[in-house]
Amino acid sequence: MVLATYNIKGGVGKTSAAVNLAYLAARGGATTLLWDLDPQGGSTFLLRVKPKVKGGGEKLVRGKSDVSARIKGTDYDNLDLLPADFSYRHMDLHLDSAKRPTRRLGRVLSPFETEYDYIFLDCPPSISLVSESVFEAADALLIPVLPATLSARMLDYIGDVAGDQVRRLPFFSMVDARKRMHRDVMEAFRAERPEMLHTVVPLAADVERMGLARAPLEEFAPRGRAAEAFRNLWAEVSRRLTHASEVDEPVARPGEP
Ligand SMILES: Nc1ncnc2c1ncn2[C@@H]1O[C@H](COP(=O)(O)OP(=O)(O)OP(=O)(O)O)[C@@H](O)[C@H]1O
Ligand SMILES: [Mg+2]
Repeated sequence: MVLATYNIKGGVGKTSAAVNLAYLAARGGATTLLWDLDPQGGSTFLLRVKPKVKGGGEKLVRGKSDVSARIKGTDYDNLDLLPADFSYRHMDLHLDSAKRPTRRLGRVLSPFETEYDYIFLDCPPSISLVSESVFEAADALLIPVLPATLSARMLDYIGDVAGDQVRRLPFFSMVDARKRMHRDVMEAFRAERPEMLHTVVPLAADVERMGLARAPLEEFAPRGRAAEAFRNLWAEVSRRLTHASEVDEPVARPGEP
């Protein structure tokens, strides 16, 4: 199963989600690989790995790199990382000069799909050949959405470009529940978009602190609401992925009929 954290917009929580969800998948016993596709190397930094890939992005996408040798272990059981490299900033050009560019990332990953239960792709914020290649390679896009009216258009746009080939699992990110505007926008959004996940990731200092701790939330703030939100998010995403339906069935609570 290949899952990409994606949004055209920057700074919405893609990397925070990729690192925490990949960690939770691994902790649950699934062999997990995270490929940090962003030349900024956010997830590589958070997982304390050197942002360097021998031969760079070009050799990788051309199938001329020994990918196994480029994959690094992390401090966590079951969680491996294919690091970011500064050369990934030219990934579009490298893809563009390759044959069947949008199939390239999938080709890099296909030998590993039996080895790993989950492969996460942490994408840079853009809409480009890299993203088109991600749409082909991924089974689902995990899309952090800010509770702002413009996000609706962004989500429609992603839908138009990604098409039906990949499932979209959008969720609200950086939500301040005290803000009336956030609550109103979320309510209006949900009414029109049943595919929105129920779990909301709150705006929380713990998430920012990941940059200081250089670790997933579970490792340094497991009792916080942010860690709890990501546990819920992973549970909900896993549930959705095992169901064919686009819309999650409400979960029966104990005591309810
Ligand atoms: N729920 C949250 N609460 C508070 N801060 C957050 C939250 N999610 C992310 N942040 C902070 O916002 C910044 C951007 O987050 P992150 O790197 O996860 O976003 P991104 O979408 O991957 O960004 P980019 O587009 O640059 O790759 C980081 O400093 C991060 O710590
Ligand atoms: Mg990022």
